[in-house]
Order: sequence, then C-alpha cells, then structure tokens
Amino acid sequence: AAVDNAPAIVVGSGYGGAVAALRLGQAGVRTVVLEMGRLWNTAGPDGKVFCATSAPDQRSMWFRSRTEAPLASFLWLDLVNKDITPYPGVLDRVHYDNMSVYVGRGVGGGSLVNGGMAVTPPAAYFAEQFPTVDAAEMYGTYFPRARAMLGVNTVDPAWFESTDWYRFTRTSRKAATAAGLKTTFVPNVYDFGYMQREAAGTATRSALAAEVIYGNNQGKRSLDKTYLAAALGTGNVTLHTLEKVRAVTRAADGSYLLTADRIDLTGAVVETKQYSCASLFLGGGSLGTTELLVRARDTGTLPDLDASVGAGWGTNGNTMLARANHVWDTVGADQSTMPVMGIDDWANADNPVFAEIAPLPIGFETWVSLYLAITKNPERARFTWDSASKTVKLGWSAAQSAVSVAMAKKLFDRINAANATIYRYDLFGSPSKVFADDFCYHPLGGCVLGRATDGYGRVKGYKRLYVTDGSLVPGSIGVNPFVTITALAERTMARVLAEDLAP
Ligand code: FDA
Repeated sequence: AAVDNAPAIVVGSGYGGAVAALRLGQAGVRTVVLEMGRLWNTAGPDGKVFCATSAPDQRSMWFRSRTEAPLASFLWLDLVNKDITPYPGVLDRVHYDNMSVYVGRGVGGGSLVNGGMAVTPPAAYFAEQFPTVDAAEMYGTYFPRARAMLGVNTVDPAWFESTDWYRFTRTSRKAATAAGLKTTFVPNVYDFGYMQREAAGTATRSALAAEVIYGNNQGKRSLDKTYLAAALGTGNVTLHTLEKVRAVTRAADGSYLLTADRIDLTGAVVETKQYSCASLFLGGGSLGTTELLVRARDTGTLPDLDASVGAGWGTNGNTMLARANHVWDTVGADQSTMPVMGIDDWANADNPVFAEIAPLPIGFETWVSLYLAITKNPERARFTWDSASKTVKLGWSAAQSAVSVAMAKKLFDRINAANATIYRYDLFGSPSKVFADDFCYHPLGGCVLGRATDGYGRVKGYKRLYVTDGSLVPGSIGVNPFVTITALAERTMARVLAEDLAP
C-alpha cells in the first residue's frame, strides 16, 4: 500500500491531540490527525446530531448491541439501557478486569461526552503530583491559556440560587453544609448564557433536556468548536476519521511508520493504511496511548521504550454514589446536566475527597442526591502485553477500588449522620450496591511525565516521539482532569516547537 507522508502526525483528537494539532498548525507544520471515531456534524433522521439520553439509539455507544449506561437501574429496574444497532457511537465503555473505563469516541474525544467541569487543581496538589514541573509557570501561563482556549465560564450565582434547574445542587449543598463541609462553585465549558436562554424557553434545550453522556446538541464548547476548529483554520491540519492506529514502528531514517485500520459504519475494516512522519504526537488518551506504546515495546516495534511505559495508572479515585433525601428535601424533576458545584474536603489530610454534585436528570422527582467522588486513592496499576490474546491487560484489583470506596464512605457517612439520611441501594445494578466501584470517568497515567517521558512529554528512548494526553498524569489530580491535561499539553507544545521543531 502507498505510504501517506506528513511532517507530523497526531493520534487522537481529545484534549492532548487537539492542543498538539493547533500549535503545530499555527507553527506552519503540515499535520495529519488520525481519529478512530467519527466526526459528529451530521444530523440523523430526527434532525439531531446526537441522540437523546432517554431514547438512546446507535449513536449513543461505540459498537454495542445494548447500551451500558453508568446508572444501570432505578429501583433495581433496568429502565435505563436499550438495545441498539452496533455503530461507531460517541461513548465507549472499555472493560478490563475489575474496572471499566468510559471514554469519548469521535472528533473531540472526551469533550463530546463529558460534564464540562473545568477545574484547575489546588496548586499544592499539582506540585505534589508534578514535582519537576515549574508550578508558577503552569499557574501563570499554561492554566490560563488552556482555560481561555477551552471557553471556561461560570454560572451566574443569582440565577443558580433561583432556578429550578439547580435545585438538586442546592439540596446537596444544604446537606453538606449541615455536616460542616465546604462547597465550591466549579467552572464549566457549557455556555451558561445559552443555558439561561434554554430555561427562558428562547433556545433549544440541551443541558436542560438531559443531554450529556451521549453528546450535547447545543451549548457545549466541545473541542470541535474550540481547539480543533482553530487547528483546521490554520490550513495546515488535515483530519482523518474512522481510522484507528494499531501499530507504530521506526524506519532506518528515524521517521515513524504507522499502520491504521479504516473502518466503515458497521465496524468492518475497509482499508489498512500506512503513514509515515518525522514527528509523532500521541493523544489517544490514557488508554489509547498507553496501549499503543505497551504493544510497541513488547512486540518489539519500538523496543527501546522505557520499562515504566504502562505503569502509574489510576482512576483519579473515582467512586459514584447516591443518598436518599427526606421527602421535604426535593431535588426537582428539572435538572441541568452540567454540574456546577463540588464538596471540597481535599484539604482534610485524614481523608482528602473532592465530590462533584451530579445530576440525575430523569424527568421526575427522585429525592436522590448523586455524587462523583474524587478520592486521593494512592493505588496504581500497570498495563501489560498479553501475548496469548494479543491484547493489553490492566492489572487493577477490586481491593484497589475498595480504597476509593472507603474514602468516599467516610465523607458521606458524615453527611448522612448530620442529616439523618441513608444511601440509595438501587442505582448500580446489583441489589444493595451503594458505591459504583467498577467504573471510572477519569483514567489517568500509563505514560507518566518524568518517568516514561522526560519532563516535557518526550518519550524516553526515541527522538521526536511525544505524549500530550492524560497518560502523563500519575493516576490522580484531585479534580476533574481535562484542564490539567490541556495545560500540560500547551506546555509541551511550547517547548517542543521552540526546541525540537524550530525551522
Ligand atoms: P481523550 O479520551 O479525550 O481523547 C483520546 C482520543 O483518541 C479519542 O477521541 C479516541 O477515540 C482517540 N483514540 C484513541 N486511541 C486511538 C487510536 N489507536 N487511533 C486513533 N484514535 C485513537 N473531565 C473533566 O475535566 N470534567 C468533567 O466534567 C468530566 N466529565 C466526564 C464525564 C464522562 C462521561 C467521561 C467519560 C469523562 C469525563 N471527564 C471529565 C474526563 C475527560 O473527558 C478526560 O479526562 C479527557 O477527555 C481525557 O483527555 P485526553 O486528551 O487524555 O484523551
């Protein structure tokens, strides 16, 4: 097959890939972006690009015959999941032993499916996780740059206090306050001006129509509308969709050779393509990038990769749980899908937890307060190559999840005690399961900065091979991760363009 040649290739179009593509394009470097998901810009038969959460169809999930929503049940009934036709849908759930990981698929990666919470970590914890990174430069330059490009904004506090759409958040705040806990507003990339127009009935509803995990048809500043639009606007960036990179090797002249499978909408491989590039930027996310590199090292196509490639993986301590409120503490039938507040107990050295107050937008009063807790779980796992099955495995154990659960339980036991409330037992599938300990939204690590790479994401053992995504973060960042991933990618690109790719 003919080899498609480009000075630079970016694998993946999530946060890390999008930053790389824009900064390369602006620097005049002709760049090809390879993304395994589709471009979400065409309306389906219902006139919408993304399907409704309440009526998921083939667009919802990545090649499934039944949806696998995070909340599998309500009152133990499987009301949530639906049979669908296999298709390159926007949300994937990747199954490993003892842990399933949700990720976005498509141009924009996780930005298409996530809750938009745009949180900058506390400086002290950032410095603890990244001791070799100049924190002053991050907080002075790269975090502000990332937030500006991502379109971060905050909810109007007066509107927040008065609208029915955030009653669920106010009810959770009241319960936290009663336990002496601090709550804090968190910024988001969803356009809050647009959301207020949705509430007023003057704009088509998206966050106020239960849209989020299967994509938002309006209002959200996902990467296809920010970084990636700007990248394509440079005229130097080309995007190839439905192409999955499955192998990387290096040619004698030092260039990289990639093999990618192009699939059609049924998932059939219709073409195997060869690419070559002088500089390769990996933005496939914690799972995608780490899998490519572990496979390359252990099958011998990039044998000089460091032994630490594959290590340092964590869930950001993710645990989902819910509480049952008293009948007089309603959460409302109307709930915005975009979280705007967290319970911030991260400074509690005995039990650091940051818990996002999450919506349960199912259209009727549930009395449920739902949370995604981010705990300071120190457990880490490693990805390994399994030559028998020719797949990459993750060595995460149930005992490692139990550490997150214990930390979340300690915090929410306090809240329940102060309010004389209990947990909900009916939301996560099996009877009496209170804590969702078998999935996460925040996969981090696998190619950790300063271990598998140098201090700027240059992969050890190889020249002009870079990692720009969540695999650089050592398993935990204490808050929702995409602002940190974006800011680190900005820092890497500034350094690499100045030192490695300067004309
Ligand atoms: P990301 O996963 O975004 O992008 C990787 C891209 O590469 C994908 O598009 C993938 O298809 C593609 N790819 C992978 N392997 C490939 C290959 N071999 N060939 C070609 N393409 C390949 N975070 C946050 O900060 N605030 C929030 O509110 C939330 N909420 C949230 C909700 C849900 C439901 C999920 C699933 C996740 C979140 N997150 C979040 C997490 C956040 O979305 C996540 O941390 C980032 O998207 C990670 O960015 P990356 O650039 O690392 O990879």
